[in-house]
Amino acid sequence: MSRLDSVIRRLTAQRAGLNWAAEQLQGTPGDVLELGLGNGRTYDHLRTVTPDRRIWVIDRNLNCHPDCVPPQDDFLQGDADAMLSKLAEAGPQVILAHYDLGTGVAADNRVLAEGLAPLVAKVMLPGGLILSDQALPGFEQLPEPCDIPKGRYNFYRVA
Ligand SMILES: C[S@@+](CC[C@H](N)C(=O)[O-])C[C@H]1O[C@@H](n2cnc3c(N)ncnc32)[C@H](O)[C@@H]1O
Repeated sequence: MSRLDSVIRRLTAQRAGLNWAAEQLQGTPGDVLELGLGNGRTYDHLRTVTPDRRIWVIDRNLNCHPDCVPPQDDFLQGDADAMLSKLAEAGPQVILAHYDLGTGVAADNRVLAEGLAPLVAKVMLPGGLILSDQALPGFEQLPEPCDIPKGRYNFYRVA
């Protein structure tokens, strides 16, 4: 598989997964959390498919497309562990989280995700869904929906 094929498959899985999660949670109250603003692509998609929800965004950098800058009050700029701890001070309020943090180094991304998973758990409401680029220990793993190939993306439900 070429790198282009790989990117297309990853982005296709992200989009299908976000659409599926937004649909599953229709009518269930709670905020959305985007972990990893990056260019703002998935944040922009979340805005589109969950227009009535507050979307918290965590990233240490603000480097997104100008059209995708989150409202100041919803953007927690800093390291994810500190920002998740800050968000957790208000108690669990997130019904849908999308985890897309990381760099190009796979091993570092795995370690980061393992360390952050307990902090993600603190902000999640029971019954919430987590979609993640990385494996997140401590949550019930769901089968990939929407014909997303196995192992392409991670889907979790919060107990
Ligand atoms: C792959 S990009 C996110 C892509 C984005 N979801 C999109 O669709 O455009 C990963 C982002 O994670 C951020 N990041 C990586 N490690 C982080 C950490 N420990 N704390 C906060 N942000 C981090 C980087 O600054 C980068 O913007």
